[in-house]
Amino acid sequence: MGGLIAQIIMKVVVSLGGSIVASPSINRNFILSYVDMVLRLKKEDISISTVVGGGKIARDYIEAARSFGASEEFCDEIGILATRMNASLILSALGEWAEKRIPVDVEKVEDDNVVMGGTLPGHTTDAVSAMLASKIKADLLINASNVDGIYDKDPREFPEAIMLLRVGSKELLGIIKGEHMAGITTILDIKAAKIIIRNRIRTFVLNGRDLENMERAIKGKSFNGTEVVL
Ligand SMILES: Nc1ncnc2c1ncn2[C@@H]1O[C@H](COP(=O)(O)OP(=O)(O)OP(=O)(O)O)[C@@H](O)[C@H]1O
Ligand SMILES: [Mg+2]
Repeated sequence: MGGLIAQIIMKVVVSLGGSIVASPSINRNFILSYVDMVLRLKKEDISISTVVGGGKIARDYIEAARSFGASEEFCDEIGILATRMNASLILSALGEWAEKRIPVDVEKVEDDNVVMGGTLPGHTTDAVSAMLASKIKADLLINASNVDGIYDKDPREFPEAIMLLRVGSKELLGIIKGEHMAGITTILDIKAAKIIIRNRIRTFVLNGRDLENMERAIKGKSFNGTEVVL
């Protein structure tokens, strides 16, 4: 029996920070370059799902709603709307707006290459990306943000912070802020970290602005960033 060639498809989930997609405003050039990479990798049998974060627009709306007395849960709902707007831009640039919609529930995702934003209050899109990676049995989760990797403490607050090339599960849980708030600024939220650890999801954290570096990471080449060692 000849003729059957097994196709090996590598599944990757990218948690794409709203901080690079749409902050302070929509970053058209970045979106086009990212989508270009996704479409190019698709031809190489690397399927990428993208979970997009909220960025500045989410924080602006959350801050205003909070100042009007809205609950944290309601502020989170507003932030989720912003993440879906950002996800809709990626879907538009991919040219998939006609046939696809933004999933609102990870459990209902069956595809290997979805674009989505947040789902429910109580966690960030980083947690959604970890849930998605677990659901579709991804080979790799990439957390792409606006810093080069995971530092021993927040590099914005502490200029002397040191970037970690590798971080173990205990150390990771020690670095991450514990409590969730709408619009929280964190490299990974606690829920994401717990899902990554529990499900042993291969995870890299890197600066999403450098797409050549991201592509190297996806292809198993050496890259600048942090590897979560499980
Ligand atoms: N230990 C840490 N290592 C690295 N960055 C950290 C750490 N602790 C806090 N941060 C902060 O996390 C920020 C990135 O998170 P932020 O939520 O702002 O961006 P994002 O997740 O890329 O975007 P969005 O949340 O809008 O999707 C960094 O700019 C950095 O200041
Ligand atoms: Mg974030």
